[in-house]
Amino acid sequence: MSKTETFKWNRKHLLGLMELSRQEIEYILDTAEGFREISTRSIKKAPPLRGKVVVNLFFEDSTRTRNSFTLAAERLSADVMQFSTKFSSVSKGETLLDTAKNLEAMGIDIVVIRHSAGGTAKLLSRTLNCAVVNAGDGYGEHPTQGLLDAFTIRQIKGSLEGLEVAIVGDIAHSRVARSNIWALTKLGANVTLVGPPTLMPPAVKQLPVKVSYSLDDVIDKVDVVNMLRIQFERLGSNPFPSIREYSHYFGLTLDRMKKAKPDIIVMHPGPINRGVEMESEVADGKNSVILKQVENGLAVRMAVLYLVNQASQELRNK
Ligand code: CP
Repeated sequence: MSKTETFKWNRKHLLGLMELSRQEIEYILDTAEGFREISTRSIKKAPPLRGKVVVNLFFEDSTRTRNSFTLAAERLSADVMQFSTKFSSVSKGETLLDTAKNLEAMGIDIVVIRHSAGGTAKLLSRTLNCAVVNAGDGYGEHPTQGLLDAFTIRQIKGSLEGLEVAIVGDIAHSRVARSNIWALTKLGANVTLVGPPTLMPPAVKQLPVKVSYSLDDVIDKVDVVNMLRIQFERLGSNPFPSIREYSHYFGLTLDRMKKAKPDIIVMHPGPINRGVEMESEVADGKNSVILKQVENGLAVRMAVLYLVNQASQELRNK
């Protein structure tokens, strides 16, 4: 019997990875592995969410996550509603909860929510009856990004057990960093956060990670380097003297890559500030798996939508 056959998924919401066990994370990744095949068919569709409605409730911009969730829901035959603040009554002052409750009144089954405020997905999960998936909440979590990153590393390396992973850059403002930390450490990787002290979160000592303030000290030791975007839109005061100086110390350059292991995996959640976090030659180079991350995000999001819908239906039938 495979390990997935012995486990029963029972979460109606996916809010973050901190609360998930290793077994739950592995179950999502194994389920995603099964869904990869659908995207290779000539007719890229399967019926699990037929008759279900998924709403993408995005209060922040997105290219990858929104489109990936849309495609994932459509591949599983769901109807998908798109919400964005620009074309909604939020511009007239309607609140998040009123917006969500009105959409739920139309008979939706899953809300995929992105919002600039931490805890928004949790708030909706306590307010709505439908399933809720967090697509990024402020500095909180971005669980499907953490899952697709773990999936991509596992796909290439076979296992995360004992791998050395550096997460580099703007850790303080990064929900991607938080979800990565939980996913990767629960799956057995050793994580080092790398960046200037001003971009480390205040509670970094409480996280299951090591900290380094020098990319040069760690680049030759790691199996995976995940370069984070500088979140210029979230920076209050200047955390470093200039972009040029930041790139000099923390940018992934071809020169730094010469010191890295030949089979190092180079990751970035996107969007990339080319020339800031990494040089274009590295972003597009042979060690980069950035587009593989995007590709895998689709299967991971199919798995998440499938699993939360299944749990939601079972709870309703009880
Ligand atoms: N990685 C990520 O969340 O990208 P988007 O902001 O484009 O969704």
